[in-house]
Amino acid sequence: MTVYDADFWERHYGTLDPTWGTAPNPAVSATVPRLRLPAGRALELGAGHGGDALWLAGRGWSVTALDVAQTAVDRVAHRAAALGLADRVRAARRDLTVDPVPPGPFDLVLGSFFYVPARETVWRRAADAVAPGGVLLIVDHGSVAPWAWDPSAHRPPTPEELAESLELGPQWLPEILESPKRDATGPGGRRAEVVDTIVAMRRQHQG
Ligand SMILES: C[S@@+](CC[C@H](N)C(=O)[O-])C[C@H]1O[C@@H](n2cnc3c(N)ncnc32)[C@H](O)[C@@H]1O
Repeated sequence: MTVYDADFWERHYGTLDPTWGTAPNPAVSATVPRLRLPAGRALELGAGHGGDALWLAGRGWSVTALDVAQTAVDRVAHRAAALGLADRVRAARRDLTVDPVPPGPFDLVLGSFFYVPARETVWRRAADAVAPGGVLLIVDHGSVAPWAWDPSAHRPPTPEELAESLELGPQWLPEILESPKRDATGPGGRRAEVVDTIVAMRRQHQG
């Protein structure tokens, strides 16, 4: 059985085309404008090659982009510098299963296809870093693509199930729970329709 630990991700990025994942995920670029957040401070968990972080920085956000793979972190920093965004992107290596989440506060904490063991625990810790009025945004797989690493994987949770599993408490309200479909291109140019899961939870100001 594959263990998705730091060594796995380091090997993965070592063989991955450095341009892969440098564009924002469609669910992120479509959802963030709907959150009506002024460009502020953002934290991305499992930023990979930084497509989402760099897109946010290009729109005026100050982004902390964390990933367990040093290769990915170095590439994000390099790309941010090449795009003239170095002052808005702080890329750093963190193993978020053990390392603390930066305290923030952040106006937006996001993760796209961020898979770690016991991830609800990591999300809950990350939620603590969201400022009142801010948003925790999770983009996940809502279907199992034909090219998925584990095509026998169980049915992914619905947005409602995912939101409930976070157990964030009464200070949080679900704002967007959606499952949009999109055409995706997998390895070797294979195309398929896939479903994204979008969960946007807003932290309420205390009354
Ligand atoms: C499927 S990739 C998604 C990358 C990026 N968010 C995207 O959408 O292209 C999952 C990412 O989570 C990172 N990751 C996995 N375990 C992690 C951990 N324990 N701490 C921090 N990042 C981790 C991986 O290195 C990888 O970049």
